[in-house]
Amino acid sequence: MGDLVTMDDLSDDEITQILDEAERLVPVAEGRVSLPLLEGKVLANMFFENSTRTRMSFETAMKRLGGEVLNFSSVGTSVSKGETLYDTMQMIDGYADVAAIRHPKQGAAQYSADSVNIPILNAGDGSGNHPTQTMLDLFTIRQAQDKIENLRVILVGDLRYGRTVHSLSHALTRFGSSLVLVSPPSLRMPSEIVTDLRNSGCEILETENFKEQLVSADVIYMTRIQKERFPDDDEYSKVAGIYKLTSSDLTNVKENLIVMHPLPRVDEIDSSVDKTKHSRYFQQAFNGVPTRMALLCRSLGVSVPKKVK
Ligand code: NCD
Repeated sequence: MGDLVTMDDLSDDEITQILDEAERLVPVAEGRVSLPLLEGKVLANMFFENSTRTRMSFETAMKRLGGEVLNFSSVGTSVSKGETLYDTMQMIDGYADVAAIRHPKQGAAQYSADSVNIPILNAGDGSGNHPTQTMLDLFTIRQAQDKIENLRVILVGDLRYGRTVHSLSHALTRFGSSLVLVSPPSLRMPSEIVTDLRNSGCEILETENFKEQLVSADVIYMTRIQKERFPDDDEYSKVAGIYKLTSSDLTNVKENLIVMHPLPRVDEIDSSVDKTKHSRYFQQAFNGVPTRMALLCRSLGVSVPKKVK
């Protein structure tokens, strides 16, 4: 109850409800309105892997709602003395009311959720899933397109190891979007995911080039090649820098096409795109705050008021 490990933990109605709540919470996320809904509650931020946006936006979300945050990182804790994930999570069960966990191993979030009583929010498990990112991605798409249904979305880059696109493609399929999956052959979306999406009725095109796809797209979602997940450096250097979106690619696109990226970017999006009306990645990063606020409230069983002011 209250866990969010994959997007399967949320029904379509819940997704819509959380997006509505996140929208109402924007003034609180911006610090313009005070709403201490989570006063007295403690979030444990359990990051066994690097993070900037996910960890900090969880922390901001909790603090803006009047809650407290325990920040764990695998450096400077007993993990370096050999403590297991199971034992570490037992401590957190006693110290906090909810935990966000990021871990290099796929399945670690589910394992944690099975090991403790407090709700667990998966903040990225290896190449597995990243559902809180997907919720803020959907929030960003809805903000720009006024809907999350029946869009044409291009996903570009490391579709093999990228957990953001694994969770996002699943959610977009549920809302009737068609997907263009763009990657080099070695980084294609895992075939079991593609089969799953197709069986759920998603129209999918797999290709190696994104430029000719741009004209009909509503969203282009660029991703970083996940260097840290490659078994060897040579394999990485063959595909590093393979895709780059520049402002000149955006001359013949739909008026309201948006360019998204979970960040960090390496060289997938040229800085010339930043100034165009299509860029949304910095807004997307901010959207992590209201979205994670709504997700924290859901996990803790706290309802978001119908009117926030
Ligand atoms: C992503 C992640 O950690 O999976 N970043 C994020 O959460 N915003 C993407 C990435 O690291 O490339």
